[in-house]
Amino acid sequence: MVDRLGRVIDYMRVSVTERCNLACKYCRAASDDDCERRELSKTDIIRCAAAFAALGGKKLRFTGGEPLLRKDIEDIIGGVSALRRYDDIALTTNAHGLKDRLRGLITSGLNRVNISLDSLNPVKYRALTGGSLDEAMRGVNHALELGISLKVNVVLTPDNINEADDFIALARENPIEVRFIELMPFGPYGSGHMGRVTNQDIIRQRPWLNPVRQPGKTADICVIEGYKGTVGFISPVSRRFCGGCNRVRLTADGKLLPCLGDAAEFSLLEALERGDEALKEAMREAIYIKPSGHCFGGGFEPERAMNRIGG
Ligand code: 5AD
Repeated sequence: MVDRLGRVIDYMRVSVTERCNLACKYCRAASDDDCERRELSKTDIIRCAAAFAALGGKKLRFTGGEPLLRKDIEDIIGGVSALRRYDDIALTTNAHGLKDRLRGLITSGLNRVNISLDSLNPVKYRALTGGSLDEAMRGVNHALELGISLKVNVVLTPDNINEADDFIALARENPIEVRFIELMPFGPYGSGHMGRVTNQDIIRQRPWLNPVRQPGKTADICVIEGYKGTVGFISPVSRRFCGGCNRVRLTADGKLLPCLGDAAEFSLLEALERGDEALKEAMREAIYIKPSGHCFGGGFEPERAMNRIGG
């Protein structure tokens, strides 16, 4: 559907849980105490996906928290795939436990996977995330083996900017889109950290990268001769893309967020009880008034940590 500013909104990011098995510093506090335990059921998630498709939705991405913590994520993906309304169904994961489940996820209808990977150094990876680099790489390698379209997300911080060349080499050697994402002010890394390093710092030192803006995409992409993959830059801070934003977010507790960087949220719970037509109308109203742009940088600190929004 088209929002009040004429933007076509056809992409919904669906967080299926706020729980996570890691604790990335830029995303959430180290404990699960602040996690909402009430999660939309599989059936309600599929109903929301159907309502969004009826409004013109074409693409879904499942996020969290860590979506693989939902034992029914295969069934959720199978259910939205069976709607036959989405030809693009993606998943963003930290890849812990992905190896054993990826084949089943693909069978259920998954087309694409994004893996969050913030360091290629095992000690630093553990310090940044609390997880195991070996385990994440098992997921990366298995995705490559199975040939599913793969992106790697690197949230850029002062801690990993010195690994930029190692990440770029990952795109040289593998058919992966490696994307550097500028830090947004969530969780323990609040706005004090935002903008300390930006994608422009990486690009300025490597003029051969030459990123090109892609219409309708958040990442500016570098296609480099001889590379099996590509390098992308997602720059919400230094080169914002709100004017072309095509997405909304559904949180695990059933709220529709028209914008990641704005406090407005609209509960769909009551509409879910009233029925599918009410659900569609509630989504239409919330999407229509999507803000013109995010409020990061204006001192806005989101109340929800990133794991409570869905990244
Ligand atoms: N800033 C930028 N990106 C973030 N992500 C999570 N928290 C932040 C943040 N504060 C990214 C993760 C993940 C995606 C869903 O969102 O790296 O890959």
